[in-house]
Amino acid sequence: MIIKKNKQLPKDFLWGASTSAYQVEGANLTHGKGPSTQDVKTVPEGTSELDVCADFYHRYKEDIALMAEMGFKTFRFSVAWTRILPEGAGEINQEGIDFYNNVIDECLKYGIEPLVTMFHFDMPAALDKKGGWSRRESVEEFVNFAKILFENYGDRVKYWLTINEQNMLTLVGELIGTCDLTGVENKYKKLYQENHHMLLAQAKVMKLCHEMIPGAKIGPAPNISLVYPASCKPEDVLAAQNFNAIRNWLYLDMAVYGRYNNLVWKFLEEHDAIPEIQDGDMDIMKQANPDFIGFNYYNTSTVEWDDGTSIAGSGDQQSGGTEPGVYKCYVNPNLLRTEFGWEIDPAGFRATMREIYERYHLPMIVTENGLGAYDKLTEDGKIHDDYRIEYLRRHIEQIKIAVSEGVEMMGYCPWSAIDLVSTHEGVVKRYGFIYVNRDEFDLKDMARYRKDSFYWYKKVIETNGEDLS
Ligand code: BG6
Repeated sequence: MIIKKNKQLPKDFLWGASTSAYQVEGANLTHGKGPSTQDVKTVPEGTSELDVCADFYHRYKEDIALMAEMGFKTFRFSVAWTRILPEGAGEINQEGIDFYNNVIDECLKYGIEPLVTMFHFDMPAALDKKGGWSRRESVEEFVNFAKILFENYGDRVKYWLTINEQNMLTLVGELIGTCDLTGVENKYKKLYQENHHMLLAQAKVMKLCHEMIPGAKIGPAPNISLVYPASCKPEDVLAAQNFNAIRNWLYLDMAVYGRYNNLVWKFLEEHDAIPEIQDGDMDIMKQANPDFIGFNYYNTSTVEWDDGTSIAGSGDQQSGGTEPGVYKCYVNPNLLRTEFGWEIDPAGFRATMREIYERYHLPMIVTENGLGAYDKLTEDGKIHDDYRIEYLRRHIEQIKIAVSEGVEMMGYCPWSAIDLVSTHEGVVKRYGFIYVNRDEFDLKDMARYRKDSFYWYKKVIETNGEDLS
């Protein structure tokens, strides 16, 4: 549909941006914080350790002031489980509780709504040693952690997200550093049992949130991107349906309707990977009742039919993969790519928003979207990231059209508020509106600089998305 008259975005649209604890905070093993899987993993070759990152732990006041200067209405950040509970369970680290109290208060001082992610790729190492999400106990461990968050922050935090990109933990966890499949006989069995526990933990936490904090809103935060068929061949369409189910709908069907997606169920049967489901689990799933859907979107995927002879393989979060006999990765010739090889697809963003809304009819907030690039700091302290502005502009345009088409959008939080450490490509892959003056291994002075996109986004927020020039 070509839209000639766009509706305005809702007046209370939540403009902001996102970060995650392990990628931005630093101070990863100090101030009482225990190690998470991220802190004990071997970092990818050529990338920095996580001890400093953007040093948000010490500089949050300066950073939040800059976010306020841009006019943020919300700031999405995650709470490091092991800053609150160094061992994942048991004793609470008061310094950790205080830190997030301070961050929340600092946001509220400027009228910025905290949007808190409870889990962003950082399972406590102590629990991981025992088996992490593969143990049934992990469900209650996560619920216990969530309860502490609700008790301490529920008086001020109205918006909560459960688990960041649970689908990516299942599909590419090894790359993100959250799972080790060495020696595992049936990886599907292991991964989808863990997935079942996460789904259950998420459902329980959503219910608990509604009980403990009346009026609070909570939702999931998977990475959702529509999967295209490589052609109009019926077999390619079937392959796209398969990957859509495995990549996207499994997670939202369960979060919203409390049921396993039928195509995924068959896929699991074929791989002897049906998870162990206890009596009552499915009733719990049905009681989750999310208030909204948070989702990360970077680009779409494209697949073709596979006759079962291809070799299995997965890329990173956005590079698709091949599952023999189910779908095969296909390079979409219609899309440009970022410097880091991720496709750019604003129209696919709209298609994704439409599809999610049609399936689930819940308001949505974009919890990540953005462009990773090698930004350059000029001698006069500027960062001319017109490529990022262009990327964001084209995506925001699509939100406006989607809203005009009747899709309910609550807000937009691109990745990332400030430069941080990427999941596997280090500090030099930058996403922020705020530049952090450090290199991969040289910490320099860590000074903050406003990129060109900083000033541009400020104007976008000021005009509630009307002026994207
Ligand atoms: C998402 C994650 O997958 O993509 C973030 O939630 C991540 O943690 C972001 O940083 C961008 O990916 P990358 O690999 O470029 O850091």
